Amino acid sequence: MRYTSDARKAKSEIIMATAIQSRTANRADILAEKIVSRSARVGIIGLGYVGLPLATEFACAGFHVVGIDVQQSKIDQLRDGHSYVQDVPTEVIHELVTTGQLTATSDFSVVETLDTINICVPTPLRKTKDPDMSYIVTACQEITKYLRPGSLVILESTTYPGTTDELLLPMFEREGMKVGEDFFLCFSPERVDPGNPKFQTSNIPKVVGGITPACTKLGALFYKQAIEKVVPVSSTRVAEMVKLLENTFRMINIGLVNELAIMCDRMGINVWEVIDGAATKPFGFMPFYPGPGLGGHCIPIDPFYLSWKTKQAGIEARFIELAGYINGQMPHFVVDKVQNALNENYTALRGSRVHVLGVAYKRDINDPRESPALDVIHLLMKRGADVSYSDPFIPSIDVEGETLRAEDQHKGVMEADCVVIITDHSGFDYQKVVENSKVIVDTRNALKGYGNPNIVRL
Ligand SMILES: NC(=O)c1ccc[n+]([C@@H]2O[C@H](COP(=O)([O-])OP(=O)(O)OC[C@H]3O[C@@H](n4cnc5c(N)ncnc54)[C@H](O)[C@@H]3O)[C@@H](O)[C@H]2O)c1
Repeated sequence: MRYTSDARKAKSEIIMATAIQSRTANRADILAEKIVSRSARVGIIGLGYVGLPLATEFACAGFHVVGIDVQQSKIDQLRDGHSYVQDVPTEVIHELVTTGQLTATSDFSVVETLDTINICVPTPLRKTKDPDMSYIVTACQEITKYLRPGSLVILESTTYPGTTDELLLPMFEREGMKVGEDFFLCFSPERVDPGNPKFQTSNIPKVVGGITPACTKLGALFYKQAIEKVVPVSSTRVAEMVKLLENTFRMINIGLVNELAIMCDRMGINVWEVIDGAATKPFGFMPFYPGPGLGGHCIPIDPFYLSWKTKQAGIEARFIELAGYINGQMPHFVVDKVQNALNENYTALRGSRVHVLGVAYKRDINDPRESPALDVIHLLMKRGADVSYSDPFIPSIDVEGETLRAEDQHKGVMEADCVVIITDHSGFDYQKVVENSKVIVDTRNALKGYGNPNIVRL
Protein backbone atom coordinates (compact mmCIF):
# COMPACT_ATOMS: atom_id res chain seq x y z
CA MET A 1 0.00 0.00 0.00
CA ARG A 2 2.71 2.39 1.19
CA TYR A 3 4.86 1.53 -1.82
CA THR A 4 1.96 2.30 -4.14
CA SER A 5 1.23 5.70 -2.57
CA ASP A 6 4.95 6.65 -2.62
CA ALA A 7 5.22 5.53 -6.22
CA ARG A 8 2.13 7.51 -7.11
CA LYS A 9 3.52 10.58 -5.35
CA ALA A 10 6.87 10.21 -7.10
CA LYS A 11 5.12 9.77 -10.43
CA SER A 12 3.00 12.87 -9.97
CA GLU A 13 6.11 14.82 -8.93
CA ILE A 14 7.85 13.67 -12.09
CA ILE A 15 4.84 14.69 -14.19
CA MET A 16 4.74 18.09 -12.47
CA ALA A 17 8.51 18.61 -12.86
CA THR A 18 8.30 17.64 -16.52
CA ALA A 19 5.38 20.02 -17.02
CA ILE A 20 7.31 22.85 -15.34
CA GLN A 21 10.42 21.97 -17.30
CA SER A 22 8.59 22.01 -20.58
CA ARG A 23 6.69 25.19 -19.63
CA THR A 24 10.03 26.80 -18.73
CA ALA A 25 11.69 25.44 -21.81
CA ASN A 26 8.78 26.67 -23.89
CA ARG A 27 8.75 30.18 -22.46
CA ALA A 28 12.54 30.47 -22.60
CA ASP A 29 12.65 28.96 -26.10
CA ILE A 30 9.87 31.19 -27.39
CA LEU A 31 11.59 34.30 -26.01
CA ALA A 32 14.99 33.16 -27.31
CA GLU A 33 13.51 32.65 -30.75
CA LYS A 34 11.91 36.12 -30.67
CA ILE A 35 15.21 37.69 -29.57
CA VAL A 36 17.25 36.02 -32.27
CA SER A 37 14.70 36.84 -34.96
CA ARG A 38 14.52 40.45 -33.68
CA SER A 39 10.75 40.16 -33.33
CA ALA A 40 10.97 40.66 -29.54
CA ARG A 41 9.50 43.98 -28.47
CA VAL A 42 12.06 45.79 -26.34
CA GLY A 43 11.16 48.27 -23.59
CA ILE A 44 13.58 50.67 -21.94
CA ILE A 45 12.41 52.36 -18.75
CA GLY A 46 14.18 55.63 -17.99
CA LEU A 47 15.41 57.48 -21.06
CA GLY A 48 18.37 59.39 -19.67
CA TYR A 49 22.11 59.21 -20.27
CA VAL A 50 21.97 55.41 -19.99
CA GLY A 51 18.51 54.50 -21.29
CA LEU A 52 18.44 56.56 -24.48
CA PRO A 53 21.74 55.24 -25.91
CA LEU A 54 20.62 51.70 -25.05
CA ALA A 55 17.22 52.18 -26.68
CA THR A 56 18.95 53.60 -29.76
CA GLU A 57 21.38 50.68 -29.97
CA PHE A 58 18.61 48.07 -29.91
CA ALA A 59 16.47 50.03 -32.35
CA CYS A 60 19.46 50.28 -34.71
CA ALA A 61 19.94 46.51 -34.32
CA GLY A 62 16.45 46.02 -35.79
CA PHE A 63 14.24 45.68 -32.71
CA HIS A 64 11.06 47.59 -32.18
CA VAL A 65 11.88 49.62 -29.08
CA VAL A 66 9.51 51.43 -26.76
CA GLY A 67 11.02 53.95 -24.37
CA ILE A 68 9.12 54.78 -21.20
CA ASP A 69 9.84 57.83 -19.07
CA VAL A 70 7.97 59.88 -16.49
CA GLN A 71 9.29 63.17 -17.90
CA GLN A 72 6.86 64.29 -20.57
CA SER A 73 9.39 66.80 -21.95
CA LYS A 74 11.71 63.92 -22.91
CA ILE A 75 8.88 61.98 -24.55
CA ASP A 76 7.87 65.09 -26.50
CA GLN A 77 11.42 65.73 -27.71
CA LEU A 78 11.83 62.13 -28.84
CA ARG A 79 8.48 62.16 -30.63
CA ASP A 80 9.71 65.27 -32.43
CA GLY A 81 12.77 63.27 -33.48
CA HIS A 82 15.10 65.25 -31.24
CA SER A 83 17.91 63.88 -29.06
CA TYR A 84 18.69 65.53 -25.74
CA VAL A 85 21.65 63.23 -24.98
CA GLN A 86 24.95 64.43 -26.38
CA ASP A 87 26.21 61.00 -27.45
CA VAL A 88 23.02 60.18 -29.39
CA PRO A 89 22.80 62.15 -32.65
CA THR A 90 19.50 63.83 -33.42
CA GLU A 91 19.67 62.47 -36.99
CA VAL A 92 19.64 58.92 -35.65
CA ILE A 93 16.67 59.56 -33.35
CA HIS A 94 14.85 61.32 -36.15
CA GLU A 95 15.32 58.36 -38.48
CA LEU A 96 14.31 55.76 -35.85
CA VAL A 97 11.22 57.70 -34.78
CA THR A 98 10.13 58.42 -38.35
CA THR A 99 10.37 54.74 -39.30
CA GLY A 100 8.55 53.71 -36.10
CA GLN A 101 11.51 51.65 -34.91
CA LEU A 102 11.61 53.73 -31.73
CA THR A 103 8.56 55.06 -29.91
CA ALA A 104 8.31 56.85 -26.59
CA THR A 105 5.57 57.03 -24.00
CA SER A 106 4.88 57.78 -20.35
CA ASP A 107 2.14 55.15 -20.24
CA PHE A 108 3.30 51.97 -18.49
CA SER A 109 0.40 49.87 -19.85
CA VAL A 110 2.59 49.39 -22.94
CA VAL A 111 4.56 46.88 -20.78
CA GLU A 112 1.77 44.39 -21.64
CA THR A 113 3.09 44.31 -25.18
CA LEU A 114 6.79 43.97 -24.32
CA ASP A 115 9.03 40.90 -24.33
CA THR A 116 12.06 42.50 -22.67
CA ILE A 117 12.30 45.37 -20.21
CA ASN A 118 15.48 47.20 -19.17
CA ILE A 119 15.26 49.44 -16.14
CA CYS A 120 17.59 52.48 -16.33
CA VAL A 121 16.17 54.84 -13.70
CA PRO A 122 18.25 57.00 -11.30
CA THR A 123 19.78 55.64 -8.09
CA PRO A 124 20.85 58.73 -6.14
CA LEU A 125 21.84 59.00 -2.50
CA ARG A 126 19.69 60.53 0.19
CA LYS A 127 21.19 63.39 2.23
CA THR A 128 22.20 60.78 4.82
CA LYS A 129 24.23 58.95 2.11
CA ASP A 130 21.75 56.07 2.16
CA PRO A 131 20.61 54.62 -1.20
CA ASP A 132 17.45 56.14 -2.60
CA MET A 133 15.67 53.16 -4.13
CA SER A 134 12.40 55.01 -4.71
CA TYR A 135 12.87 55.33 -8.50
CA ILE A 136 13.52 51.60 -8.92
CA VAL A 137 10.62 50.68 -6.64
CA THR A 138 8.18 52.99 -8.42
CA ALA A 139 9.21 51.70 -11.84
CA CYS A 140 8.91 48.06 -10.71
CA GLN A 141 5.51 48.65 -9.14
CA GLU A 142 4.32 49.90 -12.52
CA ILE A 143 5.93 46.98 -14.37
CA THR A 144 4.33 44.36 -12.10
CA LYS A 145 0.88 45.68 -13.02
CA TYR A 146 1.40 44.81 -16.67
CA LEU A 147 4.20 42.23 -16.89
CA ARG A 148 3.17 39.35 -19.09
CA PRO A 149 4.41 35.75 -18.71
CA GLY A 150 7.53 34.91 -20.66
CA SER A 151 9.13 38.35 -20.32
CA LEU A 152 12.73 39.20 -19.49
CA VAL A 153 13.36 42.02 -16.99
CA ILE A 154 16.87 43.44 -16.58
CA LEU A 155 17.87 46.03 -14.00
CA GLU A 156 20.70 48.28 -15.21
CA SER A 157 20.66 51.03 -12.57
CA THR A 158 23.75 50.96 -10.37
CA THR A 159 22.84 49.60 -6.96
CA TYR A 160 23.97 47.60 -3.92
CA PRO A 161 24.51 43.83 -4.14
CA GLY A 162 21.26 42.04 -3.34
CA THR A 163 18.90 44.58 -4.90
CA THR A 164 17.73 42.28 -7.69
CA ASP A 165 17.10 39.19 -5.58
CA GLU A 166 16.03 40.89 -2.33
CA LEU A 167 13.98 43.80 -3.62
CA LEU A 168 12.88 43.13 -7.20
CA LEU A 169 12.34 39.39 -7.14
CA PRO A 170 9.71 39.40 -4.34
CA MET A 171 7.86 42.23 -6.10
CA PHE A 172 7.55 40.21 -9.31
CA GLU A 173 6.96 36.83 -7.66
CA ARG A 174 4.22 38.31 -5.53
CA GLU A 175 2.19 38.44 -8.70
CA GLY A 176 2.18 34.62 -8.71
CA MET A 177 4.88 34.26 -11.35
CA LYS A 178 7.92 32.09 -10.81
CA VAL A 179 11.33 33.36 -11.82
CA GLY A 180 13.18 31.26 -14.37
CA GLU A 181 9.86 29.71 -15.42
CA ASP A 182 7.24 32.38 -15.91
CA PHE A 183 9.54 35.35 -16.22
CA PHE A 184 13.28 35.94 -16.33
CA LEU A 185 15.19 38.41 -14.18
CA CYS A 186 18.78 39.71 -14.53
CA PHE A 187 21.08 42.49 -13.45
CA SER A 188 23.45 44.03 -15.95
CA PRO A 189 25.53 47.05 -14.91
CA GLU A 190 25.68 50.00 -17.25
CA ARG A 191 29.19 51.25 -17.97
CA VAL A 192 28.51 54.05 -20.44
CA ASP A 193 31.06 56.85 -20.35
CA PRO A 194 29.38 60.02 -21.66
CA GLY A 195 31.51 61.99 -24.10
CA ASN A 196 33.91 59.10 -24.76
CA PRO A 197 34.31 58.91 -28.54
CA LYS A 198 36.08 55.53 -28.43
CA PHE A 199 33.79 53.53 -26.14
CA GLN A 200 30.04 53.75 -26.49
CA THR A 201 27.19 51.40 -25.52
CA SER A 202 27.79 48.93 -28.36
CA ASN A 203 31.51 48.32 -27.80
CA ILE A 204 31.67 48.35 -24.00
CA PRO A 205 31.58 44.70 -22.82
CA LYS A 206 28.32 43.93 -21.04
CA VAL A 207 28.34 41.90 -17.83
CA VAL A 208 25.08 40.10 -17.06
CA GLY A 209 23.99 37.83 -14.23
CA GLY A 210 20.58 36.22 -13.81
CA ILE A 211 18.65 34.84 -10.86
CA THR A 212 18.65 31.40 -12.53
CA PRO A 213 20.85 29.97 -15.30
CA ALA A 214 17.93 30.30 -17.72
CA CYS A 215 17.69 34.00 -16.85
CA THR A 216 21.44 34.52 -17.45
CA LYS A 217 21.27 32.68 -20.75
CA LEU A 218 18.39 34.82 -22.02
CA GLY A 219 19.97 38.03 -20.73
CA ALA A 220 23.23 37.24 -22.51
CA LEU A 221 21.42 36.27 -25.71
CA PHE A 222 19.50 39.54 -25.60
CA TYR A 223 22.58 41.75 -25.28
CA LYS A 224 24.49 39.79 -27.92
CA GLN A 225 22.09 41.14 -30.52
CA ALA A 226 23.34 44.71 -30.09
CA ILE A 227 26.54 44.63 -28.05
CA GLU A 228 29.89 43.34 -29.25
CA LYS A 229 30.99 41.42 -26.18
CA VAL A 230 28.80 39.93 -23.46
CA VAL A 231 30.21 38.53 -20.22
CA PRO A 232 27.83 36.24 -18.32
CA VAL A 233 28.45 35.87 -14.57
CA SER A 234 26.95 33.41 -12.11
CA SER A 235 24.45 35.62 -10.27
CA THR A 236 22.80 39.01 -10.07
CA ARG A 237 24.86 39.75 -6.93
CA VAL A 238 28.13 39.20 -8.76
CA ALA A 239 26.97 41.50 -11.57
CA GLU A 240 25.91 44.17 -9.05
CA MET A 241 29.25 43.94 -7.24
CA VAL A 242 31.23 44.16 -10.50
CA LYS A 243 29.92 47.67 -11.07
CA LEU A 244 30.61 48.74 -7.51
CA LEU A 245 34.15 47.39 -7.67
CA GLU A 246 34.82 49.35 -10.88
CA ASN A 247 33.55 52.64 -9.50
CA THR A 248 34.99 52.16 -6.02
CA PHE A 249 38.38 51.42 -7.61
CA ARG A 250 38.21 54.76 -9.40
CA MET A 251 36.98 56.70 -6.41
CA ILE A 252 39.69 55.36 -4.11
CA ASN A 253 42.51 55.89 -6.60
CA ILE A 254 41.32 59.44 -7.21
CA GLY A 255 41.24 59.92 -3.43
CA LEU A 256 44.82 58.67 -3.22
CA VAL A 257 46.06 60.97 -5.95
CA ASN A 258 44.16 63.93 -4.50
CA GLU A 259 45.90 63.34 -1.18
CA LEU A 260 49.20 63.10 -3.06
CA ALA A 261 48.42 66.47 -4.71
CA ILE A 262 47.95 68.05 -1.27
CA MET A 263 51.24 66.51 -0.08
CA CYS A 264 53.12 67.65 -3.20
CA ASP A 265 51.69 71.14 -2.83
CA ARG A 266 53.06 71.34 0.72
CA MET A 267 56.46 70.09 -0.47
CA GLY A 268 56.65 72.27 -3.60
CA ILE A 269 56.59 69.32 -6.01
CA ASN A 270 54.64 69.32 -9.27
CA VAL A 271 52.19 66.41 -8.82
CA TRP A 272 51.39 66.27 -12.55
CA GLU A 273 55.02 65.70 -13.40
CA VAL A 274 55.21 62.99 -10.74
CA ILE A 275 52.23 61.16 -12.23
CA ASP A 276 53.59 61.46 -15.77
CA GLY A 277 56.89 60.04 -14.55
CA ALA A 278 55.22 57.12 -12.74
CA ALA A 279 53.03 56.40 -15.76
CA THR A 280 56.10 55.49 -17.80
CA LYS A 281 56.24 52.23 -15.84
CA PRO A 282 54.90 49.69 -18.34
CA PHE A 283 53.29 47.41 -15.72
CA GLY A 284 51.71 47.62 -12.29
CA PHE A 285 50.77 51.32 -12.44
CA MET A 286 47.72 53.08 -13.81
CA PRO A 287 47.64 56.89 -13.77
CA PHE A 288 44.83 58.72 -12.01
CA TYR A 289 44.75 62.49 -11.85
CA PRO A 290 43.87 64.94 -9.09
CA GLY A 291 41.20 67.56 -9.53
CA PRO A 292 38.81 69.95 -7.82
CA GLY A 293 36.67 67.09 -6.45
CA LEU A 294 34.49 64.27 -7.71
CA GLY A 295 31.61 64.80 -10.09
CA GLY A 296 29.03 62.98 -12.13
CA HIS A 297 26.28 60.58 -11.37
CA CYS A 298 28.48 57.59 -10.54
CA ILE A 299 31.87 57.92 -8.86
CA PRO A 300 30.83 60.20 -5.95
CA ILE A 301 27.69 58.11 -5.31
CA ASP A 302 28.01 54.43 -6.15
CA PRO A 303 30.67 53.46 -3.56
CA PHE A 304 28.30 54.64 -0.84
CA TYR A 305 25.79 52.04 -2.03
CA LEU A 306 28.44 49.48 -1.17
CA SER A 307 29.40 50.99 2.19
CA TRP A 308 25.71 51.21 3.17
CA LYS A 309 25.20 47.54 2.38
CA THR A 310 28.37 46.32 4.05
CA LYS A 311 27.47 48.25 7.22
CA GLN A 312 24.46 45.97 7.50
CA ALA A 313 26.86 43.03 7.46
CA GLY A 314 28.90 44.65 10.23
CA ILE A 315 31.79 45.73 8.01
CA GLU A 316 33.01 49.33 7.82
CA ALA A 317 34.06 50.24 4.26
CA ARG A 318 37.04 52.26 5.50
CA PHE A 319 38.75 52.91 2.16
CA ILE A 320 35.49 54.32 0.77
CA GLU A 321 34.87 56.59 3.74
CA LEU A 322 38.46 57.89 3.69
CA ALA A 323 38.52 58.53 -0.06
CA GLY A 324 35.10 60.19 0.23
CA TYR A 325 36.49 62.51 2.91
CA ILE A 326 39.64 63.44 0.94
CA ASN A 327 37.75 63.97 -2.32
CA GLY A 328 35.19 66.08 -0.44
CA GLN A 329 38.00 68.35 0.81
CA MET A 330 39.22 69.21 -2.69
CA PRO A 331 36.81 72.09 -3.40
CA HIS A 332 38.02 73.70 -0.12
CA PHE A 333 41.63 73.15 -1.17
CA VAL A 334 40.92 74.85 -4.51
CA VAL A 335 39.24 77.84 -2.86
CA ASP A 336 42.21 78.20 -0.49
CA LYS A 337 44.46 78.20 -3.55
CA VAL A 338 42.38 80.97 -5.12
CA GLN A 339 42.54 82.99 -1.91
CA ASN A 340 46.33 82.52 -1.64
CA ALA A 341 46.83 83.37 -5.31
CA LEU A 342 44.90 86.62 -4.86
CA ASN A 343 46.78 87.44 -1.66
CA GLU A 344 50.04 87.08 -3.57
CA ASN A 345 48.71 89.91 -5.76
CA TYR A 346 47.75 91.95 -2.65
CA THR A 347 44.07 91.33 -3.34
CA ALA A 348 41.46 89.95 -0.93
CA LEU A 349 39.06 87.24 -2.05
CA ARG A 350 36.11 89.14 -0.57
CA GLY A 351 34.88 91.52 -3.27
CA SER A 352 37.18 90.07 -5.95
CA ARG A 353 35.88 88.90 -9.27
CA VAL A 354 36.56 85.19 -9.87
CA HIS A 355 35.81 83.63 -13.22
CA VAL A 356 35.32 79.85 -13.36
CA LEU A 357 36.15 78.09 -16.60
CA GLY A 358 34.01 74.97 -17.03
CA VAL A 359 31.23 73.74 -14.76
CA ALA A 360 30.48 70.33 -16.32
CA TYR A 361 31.70 67.44 -14.17
CA LYS A 362 34.18 66.45 -16.87
CA ARG A 363 35.67 67.57 -20.16
CA ASP A 364 33.48 68.13 -23.23
CA ILE A 365 30.17 66.97 -21.80
CA ASN A 366 27.03 68.89 -20.94
CA ASP A 367 26.29 67.34 -17.55
CA PRO A 368 26.79 69.42 -14.38
CA ARG A 369 25.42 66.77 -11.99
CA GLU A 370 27.43 66.58 -8.76
CA SER A 371 30.07 68.76 -10.43
CA PRO A 372 32.73 70.05 -8.04
CA ALA A 373 32.36 73.40 -9.82
CA LEU A 374 29.10 73.88 -7.95
CA ASP A 375 30.85 73.39 -4.60
CA VAL A 376 33.77 75.62 -5.58
CA ILE A 377 31.43 78.40 -6.73
CA HIS A 378 29.34 78.10 -3.59
CA LEU A 379 32.42 78.29 -1.34
CA LEU A 380 33.80 81.27 -3.28
CA MET A 381 30.48 83.08 -2.92
CA LYS A 382 30.38 82.28 0.79
CA ARG A 383 33.78 83.94 1.15
CA GLY A 384 32.45 87.04 -0.55
CA ALA A 385 33.76 86.65 -4.11
CA ASP A 386 31.83 87.89 -7.12
CA VAL A 387 31.70 84.74 -9.26
CA SER A 388 31.02 84.33 -12.98
CA TYR A 389 31.54 81.32 -15.23
CA SER A 390 31.77 80.23 -18.82
CA ASP A 391 31.04 76.79 -20.24
CA PRO A 392 30.19 76.17 -23.91
CA PHE A 393 27.97 73.22 -22.92
CA ILE A 394 26.04 74.58 -19.96
CA PRO A 395 24.09 77.83 -20.40
CA SER A 396 23.05 78.19 -16.76
CA ILE A 397 23.52 76.60 -13.35
CA ASP A 398 21.81 76.80 -9.98
CA VAL A 399 24.04 77.28 -6.97
CA GLU A 400 22.22 77.10 -3.66
CA GLY A 401 19.09 78.69 -5.10
CA GLU A 402 20.91 81.31 -7.19
CA THR A 403 20.90 81.03 -10.98
CA LEU A 404 24.10 81.94 -12.80
CA ARG A 405 24.21 82.33 -16.58
CA ALA A 406 27.26 81.48 -18.64
CA GLU A 407 29.32 84.44 -19.79
CA ASP A 408 31.50 84.83 -22.81
CA GLN A 409 34.88 83.28 -21.99
CA HIS A 410 36.96 86.22 -23.15
CA LYS A 411 34.89 88.83 -21.29
CA GLY A 412 34.86 86.74 -18.12
CA VAL A 413 38.64 86.27 -18.20
CA MET A 414 39.39 89.94 -18.97
CA GLU A 415 37.24 91.17 -16.07
CA ALA A 416 38.44 88.66 -13.48
CA ASP A 417 40.94 89.13 -10.67
CA CYS A 418 41.43 85.38 -10.76
CA VAL A 419 40.48 82.65 -13.25
CA VAL A 420 39.90 79.08 -12.02
CA ILE A 421 39.97 76.21 -14.49
CA ILE A 422 37.59 73.59 -13.12
CA THR A 423 36.71 71.70 -16.31
CA ASP A 424 39.28 71.48 -19.10
CA HIS A 425 36.93 71.63 -22.10
CA SER A 426 38.90 71.32 -25.31
CA GLY A 427 37.06 74.31 -26.82
CA PHE A 428 38.52 76.88 -24.41
CA ASP A 429 41.14 79.16 -25.89
CA TYR A 430 43.88 78.53 -23.31
CA GLN A 431 46.42 80.73 -25.06
CA LYS A 432 44.08 83.70 -24.58
CA VAL A 433 43.38 82.69 -20.98
CA VAL A 434 47.11 82.72 -20.19
CA GLU A 435 47.66 86.03 -21.98
CA ASN A 436 44.71 87.86 -20.45
CA SER A 437 44.41 86.60 -16.87
CA LYS A 438 45.91 88.32 -13.86
CA VAL A 439 46.26 84.95 -12.14
CA ILE A 440 44.98 81.46 -12.99
CA VAL A 441 44.37 78.51 -10.69
CA ASP A 442 44.52 75.45 -12.91
CA THR A 443 42.96 72.39 -11.24
CA ARG A 444 43.23 70.11 -14.30
CA ASN A 445 46.70 70.73 -15.70
CA ALA A 446 44.96 72.24 -18.73
CA LEU A 447 47.91 74.62 -19.04
CA LYS A 448 50.52 71.88 -19.23
CA GLY A 449 53.52 73.23 -21.13
CA TYR A 450 52.84 76.88 -20.23
CA GLY A 451 55.49 78.27 -17.92
CA ASN A 452 53.90 81.67 -17.28
CA PRO A 453 54.28 83.01 -13.74
CA ASN A 454 50.55 83.83 -13.43
CA ILE A 455 49.69 80.09 -13.37
CA VAL A 456 49.08 78.34 -10.06
CA ARG A 457 48.71 74.58 -10.41
CA LEU A 458 46.94 72.14 -8.14
N1 LIG B 1 25.18 58.64 -16.56
C1 LIG B 1 26.15 57.76 -16.53
O1 LIG B 1 27.26 58.02 -17.00
C2 LIG B 1 25.95 56.39 -15.93
C3 LIG B 1 26.92 55.40 -16.20
C4 LIG B 1 26.75 54.14 -15.67
C5 LIG B 1 25.64 53.87 -14.86
N2 LIG B 1 24.72 54.84 -14.59
C6 LIG B 1 23.57 54.48 -13.76
O2 LIG B 1 22.43 54.32 -14.60
C7 LIG B 1 21.25 54.75 -13.94
C8 LIG B 1 20.57 55.83 -14.76
O3 LIG B 1 21.45 56.94 -14.85
P1 LIG B 1 21.25 58.10 -15.91
O4 LIG B 1 22.52 58.88 -15.89
O5 LIG B 1 20.75 57.57 -17.19
O6 LIG B 1 20.09 58.93 -15.18
P2 LIG B 1 19.19 60.08 -15.87
O7 LIG B 1 18.70 60.91 -14.74
O8 LIG B 1 19.93 60.70 -16.99
O9 LIG B 1 18.00 59.25 -16.50
C9 LIG B 1 17.07 58.55 -15.73
C10 LIG B 1 15.71 58.69 -16.39
O10 LIG B 1 14.78 57.89 -15.66
C11 LIG B 1 13.55 58.60 -15.64
N3 LIG B 1 12.73 58.06 -14.55
C12 LIG B 1 12.81 58.33 -13.23
N4 LIG B 1 11.89 57.60 -12.57
C13 LIG B 1 11.23 56.88 -13.50
C14 LIG B 1 10.16 55.95 -13.42
N5 LIG B 1 9.62 55.59 -12.26
N6 LIG B 1 9.71 55.42 -14.57
C15 LIG B 1 10.25 55.76 -15.76
N7 LIG B 1 11.28 56.63 -15.89
C16 LIG B 1 11.75 57.18 -14.76
C17 LIG B 1 13.95 60.05 -15.47
O11 LIG B 1 12.91 60.90 -15.87
C18 LIG B 1 15.17 60.11 -16.39
O12 LIG B 1 14.82 60.48 -17.69
C19 LIG B 1 21.70 55.20 -12.55
O13 LIG B 1 21.59 54.13 -11.66
C20 LIG B 1 23.17 55.54 -12.75
O14 LIG B 1 23.92 55.42 -11.56
C21 LIG B 1 24.86 56.08 -15.13
